[in-house]
Amino acid sequence: MTRVVVLLSGRGSNFKALLEADLPVTFTAAISNRPDAAGLEHARARGIPAIALDHKNFPSRAAFDETLINEIEKAGADLVVLAGYMRILTKPFVERYADRLINIHPSLLPMFPGLDTHAAALREGVKIHGCTVHFVTPQLDHGPIVIQAAVPVLADDTPATLAARVLAQEHRIYPQAVRWFAEGKLVISDGRVNVREDGVSQWVLSTP
Ligand code: GAR
Repeated sequence: MTRVVVLLSGRGSNFKALLEADLPVTFTAAISNRPDAAGLEHARARGIPAIALDHKNFPSRAAFDETLINEIEKAGADLVVLAGYMRILTKPFVERYADRLINIHPSLLPMFPGLDTHAAALREGVKIHGCTVHFVTPQLDHGPIVIQAAVPVLADDTPATLAARVLAQEHRIYPQAVRWFAEGKLVISDGRVNVREDGVSQWVLSTP
Protein backbone atom coordinates (compact mmCIF):
# COMPACT_ATOMS: atom_id res chain seq x y z
CA MET A 1 0.00 0.00 0.00
CA THR A 2 1.20 3.47 -0.84
CA ARG A 3 1.70 5.45 2.38
CA VAL A 4 0.36 8.98 2.12
CA VAL A 5 0.96 11.95 4.42
CA VAL A 6 -1.40 14.89 3.88
CA LEU A 7 -0.39 18.47 4.68
CA LEU A 8 -3.16 21.01 5.12
CA SER A 9 -3.86 24.40 6.65
CA GLY A 10 -7.64 24.76 6.78
CA ARG A 11 -11.02 23.28 5.98
CA GLY A 12 -9.69 20.05 4.46
CA SER A 13 -12.45 19.37 1.94
CA ASN A 14 -9.91 17.96 -0.51
CA PHE A 15 -8.53 15.70 2.22
CA LYS A 16 -12.10 14.53 2.90
CA ALA A 17 -12.62 13.80 -0.80
CA LEU A 18 -9.44 11.70 -0.78
CA LEU A 19 -10.55 9.82 2.33
CA GLU A 20 -13.93 9.05 0.78
CA ALA A 21 -12.54 7.92 -2.57
CA ASP A 22 -11.61 4.41 -1.45
CA LEU A 23 -8.06 4.79 -2.74
CA PRO A 24 -5.49 1.98 -2.59
CA VAL A 25 -3.42 3.95 -0.06
CA THR A 26 -2.84 4.16 3.69
CA PHE A 27 -3.04 7.63 5.19
CA THR A 28 -0.26 7.57 7.79
CA ALA A 29 -0.71 11.15 9.08
CA ALA A 30 -2.34 14.50 8.46
CA ILE A 31 -0.21 17.46 9.47
CA SER A 32 -1.30 21.08 9.76
CA ASN A 33 0.76 24.21 10.30
CA ARG A 34 -2.37 25.70 11.92
CA PRO A 35 -3.39 23.95 15.12
CA ASP A 36 -7.04 24.94 14.68
CA ALA A 37 -7.35 23.60 11.10
CA ALA A 38 -10.76 21.95 10.74
CA GLY A 39 -9.25 19.49 8.28
CA LEU A 40 -7.45 17.65 11.09
CA GLU A 41 -10.86 16.49 12.35
CA HIS A 42 -11.27 14.32 9.26
CA ALA A 43 -8.13 12.46 10.33
CA ARG A 44 -9.15 12.19 13.99
CA ALA A 45 -12.58 10.86 13.02
CA ARG A 46 -10.88 7.97 11.22
CA GLY A 47 -8.10 7.25 13.69
CA ILE A 48 -5.43 8.69 11.43
CA PRO A 49 -2.67 10.50 13.38
CA ALA A 50 -3.44 14.23 13.29
CA ILE A 51 -0.42 16.39 13.97
CA ALA A 52 -0.52 20.13 14.62
CA LEU A 53 2.76 21.97 14.16
CA ASP A 54 2.21 25.66 14.80
CA HIS A 55 4.58 27.47 12.47
CA LYS A 56 4.50 30.48 14.81
CA ASN A 57 6.53 28.48 17.35
CA PHE A 58 9.50 28.11 15.01
CA PRO A 59 12.30 30.63 14.55
CA SER A 60 12.52 30.19 10.78
CA ARG A 61 10.93 28.53 7.78
CA ALA A 62 13.94 26.21 7.59
CA ALA A 63 13.52 25.10 11.21
CA PHE A 64 9.83 24.48 10.66
CA ASP A 65 10.40 22.42 7.53
CA GLU A 66 13.06 20.33 9.30
CA THR A 67 10.53 19.39 11.96
CA LEU A 68 7.95 18.77 9.26
CA ILE A 69 10.33 16.35 7.55
CA ASN A 70 10.92 14.56 10.87
CA GLU A 71 7.20 14.09 11.39
CA ILE A 72 6.68 12.86 7.83
CA GLU A 73 9.54 10.40 8.19
CA LYS A 74 8.17 9.13 11.51
CA ALA A 75 4.77 8.53 9.92
CA GLY A 76 6.28 7.04 6.76
CA ALA A 77 5.40 8.42 3.34
CA ASP A 78 5.70 7.27 -0.24
CA LEU A 79 3.69 10.30 -1.31
CA VAL A 80 3.18 13.72 0.32
CA VAL A 81 -0.10 15.37 -0.66
CA LEU A 82 -0.64 19.10 -0.22
CA ALA A 83 -4.35 19.65 0.32
CA GLY A 84 -4.88 23.33 0.94
CA TYR A 85 -1.45 23.67 2.54
CA MET A 86 -0.95 27.42 2.51
CA ARG A 87 2.69 27.71 3.44
CA ILE A 88 5.65 28.05 1.13
CA LEU A 89 7.95 25.04 1.37
CA THR A 90 11.73 25.38 1.49
CA LYS A 91 13.89 24.12 -1.34
CA PRO A 92 15.43 21.32 0.80
CA PHE A 93 11.93 20.07 1.59
CA VAL A 94 10.81 20.13 -2.04
CA GLU A 95 14.03 18.45 -3.17
CA ARG A 96 13.75 15.74 -0.54
CA TYR A 97 10.29 14.77 -1.77
CA ALA A 98 10.93 15.35 -5.46
CA ASP A 99 8.58 13.32 -7.68
CA ARG A 100 6.51 12.24 -4.65
CA LEU A 101 5.06 15.59 -3.63
CA ILE A 102 1.83 16.79 -5.26
CA ASN A 103 -0.35 19.85 -4.89
CA ILE A 104 -3.78 21.00 -5.97
CA HIS A 105 -4.11 24.60 -7.08
CA PRO A 106 -7.37 26.42 -7.86
CA SER A 107 -6.53 27.64 -11.37
CA LEU A 108 -5.52 26.32 -14.75
CA LEU A 109 -1.79 26.66 -14.20
CA PRO A 110 0.37 28.34 -15.38
CA MET A 111 -2.38 30.96 -15.22
CA PHE A 112 -3.03 32.56 -11.84
CA PRO A 113 -0.39 31.16 -9.48
CA GLY A 114 -0.53 32.43 -5.89
CA LEU A 115 -3.54 33.54 -3.88
CA ASP A 116 -7.04 34.79 -4.77
CA THR A 117 -7.12 32.94 -8.05
CA HIS A 118 -10.89 33.21 -8.52
CA ALA A 119 -10.92 37.00 -8.11
CA ALA A 120 -7.99 37.20 -10.53
CA ALA A 121 -9.83 35.07 -13.10
CA LEU A 122 -12.90 37.33 -12.88
CA ARG A 123 -10.75 40.44 -13.12
CA GLU A 124 -9.10 39.16 -16.29
CA GLY A 125 -12.45 38.18 -17.79
CA VAL A 126 -11.39 34.66 -18.68
CA LYS A 127 -14.27 32.47 -19.82
CA ILE A 128 -12.75 29.18 -18.69
CA HIS A 129 -11.20 28.62 -15.27
CA GLY A 130 -10.37 25.50 -13.28
CA CYS A 131 -7.93 23.58 -11.14
CA THR A 132 -4.67 21.70 -11.51
CA VAL A 133 -2.93 18.82 -9.76
CA HIS A 134 0.82 19.04 -10.26
CA PHE A 135 4.07 17.69 -8.92
CA VAL A 136 5.77 20.32 -6.78
CA THR A 137 9.04 21.96 -7.79
CA PRO A 138 10.88 24.76 -5.96
CA GLN A 139 9.05 27.32 -8.13
CA LEU A 140 5.74 28.27 -6.48
CA ASP A 141 2.62 26.75 -8.08
CA HIS A 142 4.68 25.24 -10.83
CA GLY A 143 5.67 21.74 -11.85
CA PRO A 144 4.70 18.79 -14.04
CA ILE A 145 0.92 18.75 -14.50
CA VAL A 146 -0.92 15.51 -13.67
CA ILE A 147 -4.52 16.47 -14.42
CA GLN A 148 -6.61 19.59 -14.92
CA ALA A 149 -10.34 20.32 -14.82
CA ALA A 150 -11.95 23.27 -16.57
CA VAL A 151 -15.18 25.01 -15.63
CA PRO A 152 -17.08 27.81 -17.39
CA VAL A 153 -17.00 31.31 -15.94
CA LEU A 154 -20.56 32.70 -15.87
CA ALA A 155 -21.53 36.34 -16.31
CA ASP A 156 -22.90 36.68 -12.79
CA ASP A 157 -20.11 34.79 -11.02
CA THR A 158 -18.55 36.11 -7.82
CA PRO A 159 -15.26 34.75 -6.47
CA ALA A 160 -17.35 32.59 -4.11
CA THR A 161 -19.62 31.04 -6.77
CA LEU A 162 -16.66 30.43 -9.05
CA ALA A 163 -14.66 28.90 -6.18
CA ALA A 164 -17.50 26.49 -5.42
CA ARG A 165 -17.71 25.38 -9.08
CA VAL A 166 -13.96 24.81 -9.17
CA LEU A 167 -13.89 23.04 -5.78
CA ALA A 168 -16.38 20.42 -6.98
CA GLN A 169 -13.89 19.58 -9.73
CA GLU A 170 -10.95 19.58 -7.30
CA HIS A 171 -12.76 16.83 -5.43
CA ARG A 172 -12.90 14.79 -8.66
CA ILE A 173 -9.38 15.23 -9.97
CA TYR A 174 -7.36 14.96 -6.74
CA PRO A 175 -8.51 11.41 -5.95
CA GLN A 176 -7.87 10.47 -9.58
CA ALA A 177 -4.31 11.82 -9.41
CA VAL A 178 -3.55 10.01 -6.14
CA ARG A 179 -5.01 6.79 -7.53
CA TRP A 180 -2.77 7.00 -10.60
CA PHE A 181 0.25 7.64 -8.39
CA ALA A 182 -0.60 4.70 -6.11
CA GLU A 183 -1.05 2.44 -9.11
CA GLY A 184 2.37 3.46 -10.41
CA LYS A 185 0.86 4.91 -13.57
CA LEU A 186 2.41 8.38 -13.56
CA VAL A 187 5.52 8.85 -15.65
CA ILE A 188 7.37 12.16 -15.51
CA SER A 189 9.60 12.87 -18.44
CA ASP A 190 10.91 16.20 -19.69
CA GLY A 191 8.75 18.09 -17.19
CA ARG A 192 5.55 16.46 -18.41
CA VAL A 193 3.40 13.79 -16.86
CA ASN A 194 2.00 10.91 -18.86
CA VAL A 195 -0.35 8.26 -17.54
CA ARG A 196 0.66 4.69 -18.27
CA GLU A 197 -2.81 3.61 -19.31
CA ASP A 198 -4.66 3.48 -22.60
CA GLY A 199 -7.43 5.93 -23.35
CA VAL A 200 -7.02 7.88 -20.14
CA SER A 201 -7.92 11.56 -20.00
CA GLN A 202 -5.78 14.03 -18.08
CA TRP A 203 -8.41 16.72 -18.44
CA VAL A 204 -11.98 17.11 -17.27
CA LEU A 205 -14.48 19.58 -18.73
CA SER A 206 -17.43 20.42 -16.53
CA THR A 207 -20.75 22.04 -17.41
CA PRO A 208 -22.16 24.77 -15.13
C1 GAR B 1 -8.49 24.51 -2.34
O1 GAR B 1 -9.28 25.27 -3.20
C2 GAR B 1 -7.10 24.35 -2.89
O2 GAR B 1 -7.05 24.24 -4.28
C3 GAR B 1 -6.45 25.63 -2.43
O3 GAR B 1 -6.93 25.84 -1.14
C4 GAR B 1 -8.23 25.26 -1.03
C5 GAR B 1 -8.24 24.34 0.16
O4 GAR B 1 -9.53 23.85 0.40
N1 GAR B 1 -5.02 25.53 -2.46
C6 GAR B 1 -4.21 26.53 -2.77
O5 GAR B 1 -4.62 27.65 -3.03
C7 GAR B 1 -2.74 26.19 -2.77
N2 GAR B 1 -1.98 27.20 -3.43
P1 GAR B 1 -9.73 22.59 1.33
O6 GAR B 1 -8.98 22.88 2.63
O7 GAR B 1 -11.22 22.55 1.56
O8 GAR B 1 -9.21 21.39 0.62
